[in-house]
Amino acid sequence: MRIVVLTGAGISAESGVPTFRDADGLWEGHRVEDVATPEAYVADPVLVHEFYDARRAALAGVVPNPAHRALARLEEALGDDLLVVTQNIDDLHERAGSTRVLHMHGELLKAWCLACEGRHPWDGPMGGDPACPGCGAPALRPDVVWFGEIPYEMDRILDSLGRADLFVSIGTSGAVYPAAGFVQQAARHGVRTLELNLQPSEGTAWFREARHGPAGVLVPAWVEDLLGPAAD
Ligand code: APR
Repeated sequence: MRIVVLTGAGISAESGVPTFRDADGLWEGHRVEDVATPEAYVADPVLVHEFYDARRAALAGVVPNPAHRALARLEEALGDDLLVVTQNIDDLHERAGSTRVLHMHGELLKAWCLACEGRHPWDGPMGGDPACPGCGAPALRPDVVWFGEIPYEMDRILDSLGRADLFVSIGTSGAVYPAAGFVQQAARHGVRTLELNLQPSEGTAWFREARHGPAGVLVPAWVEDLLGPAAD
C-alpha cells in the first residue's frame, strides 16, 4: 500500500514546538504572516532573523514524540511506499528516524545564500550577517518558504499523491495552500483520505474519514491498525 502523509505544526505540538494558529497566533506582537514574507525580510531583516534564530535555538530543547516515532516505524515497514511531506521546518521527523521526508516549506537548519545560491547546514544564529560558508558573502537567509513563495518539491509531491492508495493529513489546520488542497487532489485521483487532527481542520469535509484527538495518541494507534502492536 502506497501512503502519502502530510504533517503540520500539530504533530510537533506535543514536543513543545508552538503551532501557528492555535493560541493567539502572535509572536511578540507580530502576526506570523508579517515576519514570514520576503517583503518583511527586505523591510526588517533583523526582526526576521530574530524570529527564526529563536525558533532554531528552541529546537535544541525539544525531542520527537510518539507521533513522529510511529511514522518512522511505518517507514521501516513500508520503505519507499511511504512518503512524509511536512510543512514543518523542524527536524523532528528525521530525529525520530524518518528518512523519506520532503520539507515543502524548507528547513530551519539550513541557510540559503542569496549571493551564490548555495544551501548549507546551519544550527547557529543567522542574525548579525554571518559569512556564507561557500562564498563568504554576508547574504544568508533562512532556507524556508515564505508566504508568497513557491513551496519546494511540488512536482514530486503531486506525482506521489496521484499514485497513492491513501493520503493522511496529520496536525494541520488546512488554512495554507497548496498543502490545504492536497486532500482534494487525492480525492480527484480516487485516493482514500484520512484526517488525524486535534480538531476538525478547515478542509475536514473533504476527507473520507477523520479522527480527532492528539497526534501522540492517534498516530501510533493508526500505525498499530496497519502493522500490529509495536515490539517495544
Ligand atoms: N495533535 C494533533 N493536532 C494538533 C495538536 C496535537 N497535539 N495540537 C494542535 N493541533 C492541530 C490544531 O488543531 C491545528 O488544526 O494542528 C493544527 C495546527 O495548525 P497551524 O498552526 O495552522 O499549523 P499548520 O497547519 O502546520 O500551518 C501551515 O502555515 O504559517 C504557515 O508555513 C507555516 O507551515 C506552516 C503553515
